[in-house]
Amino acid sequence: MKTLLRALQADITSLPVEAIVNAANSSLLGGGGVDGAIHRAAGPELLRECRRLGGCATGQAKLTQGYRLPARYVIHTVGPVWRGGANGEPELLASCYRCSLELAAANGVATLAFPGVSTGVYGYPVEAAAQVAVATVRRSLETIAGIREVIFCCFSPEDLRIYERVMKESAS
Ligand code: AR6
Repeated sequence: MKTLLRALQADITSLPVEAIVNAANSSLLGGGGVDGAIHRAAGPELLRECRRLGGCATGQAKLTQGYRLPARYVIHTVGPVWRGGANGEPELLASCYRCSLELAAANGVATLAFPGVSTGVYGYPVEAAAQVAVATVRRSLETIAGIREVIFCCFSPEDLRIYERVMKESAS
């Protein structure tokens, strides 16, 4: 089965996919950016479930219900803070994408959407992050079965242009 990969511009909380990925922090207790938007849209039950998870290490992922979101699940992953790129940032970011896909597949999720993990408050340059995201998703899907569609959800038109270019340049 060939997985469909595409980029689009949207508010990730509006997407009718089975799971959306949250760019969280290691407390998993909410924050700004996409994390804040997801908690607002999902409602207070999400925070209640997150409190029971005991946080999440950078590069890892944990799954919750989606509550009031159209998505059935939220996969919370913690991206690295950008500190110049020579402090393991690419490996940690790749781990976020790979772990999120593994968790999705383990829970029977066939369609999911990623935001640009680490590219907001955490300062990861968008183009470098998009290269890691696209390459890691493509590579991971060679060994992870059952995922039909992966969406790279961009918040701005500039980010969408970058993702479209990176996807085209790395098309296999
Ligand atoms: N839909 C899709 N993408 C969005 C949305 C949205 N509704 N809102 C923002 N983005 P950020 P990070 C994009 O800062 O860099 C939080 O406080 C945004 O334009 O949300 O991983 C957490 O609690 C950017 O491209 O996440 C952590 O403390 C991308 O989502 C910290 O920020 C990620 O930006 C995590 O920082």
